[in-house]
Amino acid sequence: MNVLVVGSGGREHALVWALKKSSGVDRIFCAPGNGGIQELAECVNLSATDIPGLLRFAKENRIGMTVVGPEMPLWMGIVDAFEDEGLKIFGPRKSAAQIEGSKAFAKEFMRRHGIPTASFQIFESLQNARGYIWSQKPPIVVKADGLAAGKGAVVCRSHQEAQVALEEMMIKRIFGEAGKRVIVEEFMEGVELSLLALTDGRTVVPFVPAQDHKPVYDDDLGPNTGGMGAYAPVPFVDDALIQRIMEEIMIPAIRGLKNEGIEYRGVLYGGLMLTRQGPKVVEFNARFGDPETQAILPLVEGDLLEAIWAVVEGKLQEGMLRFRPGYCTCVIMASGGYPGKYEKGKPIRGLDEYLGDNVLVFHSGTKRENGTYVTSGGRVLGVTALGDSLKASIERAYAAVRRIHFEGAHYRKDIGRKGLHPPQLK
Ligand code: AMP
Ligand code: GLY
Repeated sequence: MNVLVVGSGGREHALVWALKKSSGVDRIFCAPGNGGIQELAECVNLSATDIPGLLRFAKENRIGMTVVGPEMPLWMGIVDAFEDEGLKIFGPRKSAAQIEGSKAFAKEFMRRHGIPTASFQIFESLQNARGYIWSQKPPIVVKADGLAAGKGAVVCRSHQEAQVALEEMMIKRIFGEAGKRVIVEEFMEGVELSLLALTDGRTVVPFVPAQDHKPVYDDDLGPNTGGMGAYAPVPFVDDALIQRIMEEIMIPAIRGLKNEGIEYRGVLYGGLMLTRQGPKVVEFNARFGDPETQAILPLVEGDLLEAIWAVVEGKLQEGMLRFRPGYCTCVIMASGGYPGKYEKGKPIRGLDEYLGDNVLVFHSGTKRENGTYVTSGGRVLGVTALGDSLKASIERAYAAVRRIHFEGAHYRKDIGRKGLHPPQLK
């Protein structure tokens, strides 16, 4: 079968890498892909949001399965467009992707179905939002309703900060239409966890749990990024806790959508906070996480395409995801200045050398130019390593990171540390 992966980041590189191992795959394409992906797949010069172009390409190249990476095409209805033409595609339809595309929808949905999450209020008027903020005790979390490239949530330590965040979203419209409505919510104290699960709308099968590292600097300091690294599984999350998250959050979400007439097929990403009162939802995403996927997929045993096929056909079964023992750590190397302004086009050295056993380098933002890789994004590489222990996988990933160079490169030095020293829930 010919397979098309939509997207251009490290997540898509990991998806292409994992799918390519499947015996069912003949040709594999990626639109638009990147410098690293082009080593494994035929890259197609179409944007991830060019739905008519992608549809035409899929028909012309007899694509048997399209796998969508990023949220934007899902929210624009790529799955509806493909399915309406009889093409197989992995991901939720637009109505189901609302769970990520509108935070207001997600929060009200969780309230309707008793899924634990931070208490909240939704506002369309700045005046009302401002009044509410001053009645709350900081920290206060202010969120834009719509998609804002992962930057739409601001944790505010004072009333003044919250007011500035509100004004930026609602008046200055720094996130455009996404800030027309805002959610003001309670700050949850705890430890963050990402649990991704495959679902065909009935059966829900989790991947190993992962932890992302959102802030740009060590010890979770500095502004939020798309994610500076991830590891999986998380040693202090045992089977009983996973089962609790499945029973209290993931399964009720899929069942709740179904009861509202929305069948969710694809991957549901639970962005969770483990609090003293138990696991609660920070957000749901309607897609694979980035960089969590780079740490999760190398641990998957067996055929990813088969599992994806079962999801799309509504035939998913428990036990369809199996994992090898051990751990996987992904360290993001980013461009100087990221998540603020950064320059592109810096040559990358070290990628052609041997970087160690069980090391995989997933490209997030690179291009191939005159025979070398150059940087072309904020997040540049996801340097990933497997190990028998978490410590071994971390050390192996960092040993590889130290052999790769480009001007301005920076990375966190503490990816995975929380897994080695389990945090106490206060
Ligand atoms: P989001 O865009 O909703 O994933 O939020 C981005 C980040 O902000 C999360 O990964 C959390 O670290 C933090 N955050 C969001 N909402 C809350 C909350 N209610 N309590 C504590 N932290 C939050
Ligand atoms: N790792 C965060 C995200 O994929 O949204």
